[in-house]
Amino acid sequence: EKGGFDHYMLKEIHEQPRALRQTLSGRFDIDAGTVDLDLDLEEAYLNSVEEIQIIACGTSNYAGRYAAELLESVTEVRTSVEVASEYEFDGGRDPWRTLVVAVTQSGETADTLSAVRKAKQAGARTLAVTNTLGSTVTREVDDSLFIRAGPEIGVAATKTFASQVATLSLFAVYLGRVRGSVSSAEATTVLESIRALPGAVQQILDDEDYIREVAEEHGDSNAFFFIGRRFGHPVSLEGALKLKEISYDHAEGFPAGELKHGPLALVTPETTVLAVVTEGSNADETLNNIKEVQARGATVIGAASAGDSTEYLDVQFSVPDIGLLEPLVTNVYWQLFAYYVAKSKGRNIDKPRNLAKSVTVE
Ligand code: M6R
Repeated sequence: EKGGFDHYMLKEIHEQPRALRQTLSGRFDIDAGTVDLDLDLEEAYLNSVEEIQIIACGTSNYAGRYAAELLESVTEVRTSVEVASEYEFDGGRDPWRTLVVAVTQSGETADTLSAVRKAKQAGARTLAVTNTLGSTVTREVDDSLFIRAGPEIGVAATKTFASQVATLSLFAVYLGRVRGSVSSAEATTVLESIRALPGAVQQILDDEDYIREVAEEHGDSNAFFFIGRRFGHPVSLEGALKLKEISYDHAEGFPAGELKHGPLALVTPETTVLAVVTEGSNADETLNNIKEVQARGATVIGAASAGDSTEYLDVQFSVPDIGLLEPLVTNVYWQLFAYYVAKSKGRNIDKPRNLAKSVTVE
C-alpha cells in the first residue's frame, strides 16, 4: 500500500507533482489571466472585504503565512495569520468586512474548529481550505475550497502543504481579479509560476540521491537552524517543524535577520544552517547572515535559484527558475532532508512519538 516506498511520508513526498496537478486542474486560464474556483461567496461580498484573517495550526498555519504574503501583494487586502488556538475575534474589527479563512488539511482540528466558531459568533463570513470532503469544518463554514491532494497518511504533512499553498495562491489571484487590484497580465505572471510547480517539484525529486547523501553527512549536527526572508520565512518554519517532528533533533526556523538578535549565540561548528536564497526570499540580504554563521564555523546548506552564483554556500541545492513560488519548491528539499536524517536515525517516521495525524482535542 506504500507503493514500494519504505514510508507513507516518502510516498507522499513523491506524490506532490500529481497532487499539485489535481489541485490546479481546470481552475485557471493562463492566457486570460483568470481563475475559477467555483466559490459560493459572492463577488460583491469579496469586493467589500477589508481584511482577511487566516486561522490554522502547525503546517497549515505555515501554508497560511506563505499565502498571506502573496494575498497582500496581489490583492492589497490586509491579511493576518493566527495560530488557531490563540484566536479571538477582536471587537474593534468590522465582522462584515472580515473574511476568516480556516486552513486545515483534515478539517477536524479542534483548535481550528473552535476558532471558526468564534469568528461565526462574531458575525464574520468563513471559508475553509481543506483536503477532506465532508469533514466537520466544511459543515461549519459558509464556503469550502478543496485542495484535492488525495489522502495523506503520514503524520508529517507534506503534499498537503504544497497543495494548500497552491490553492491559496489561486485564491489570491482570483481575489485580485475580482477586486481589480491585479491586471490580467500580472495575473498571468503569477499563474505561470503556479503552473510550473508540478514540473519544478519533480526536478527536486530527481535530486533525491544527492539530498540523501547531504542528510546523512550532516544529520549528526547538534542543532539545525532554518533561515529565510519573505516567502523563505514560512518555508523555514515548515522545514524546522518537519525535521523536529520526525527526527527529534533540535530545529528552529526564523527570519534570517533575527539571527543577530539572539539565536546567533547558539551557533557553533556543530550547527547546520539551512537557508532559502531563491527568488522571492530577498536572497541578497540573507547573504550577510550566512557569512555570520559561517564565521562561527557552521555549515550552510542553501537552496538557490538555478543559475545564481552560489560559491558562498557550503552545500548547494538548485531550484528551477519559476519566480515567486521558488521557496515553495525549496520546501521539497527540506522535506527530503528531514526524511533522510530521520531515516538514518531509525525513527518511527510515519508515526512520530507523542503526535497524532489529526489533533481533535483543544
Ligand atoms: O489537519 P490540520 O491541517 O488542521 O492539522 C494541523 C496540524 O496539526 C498539522 O499540520 C501538524 O502540524 C502536522 N503534523 C505537521 O506535519
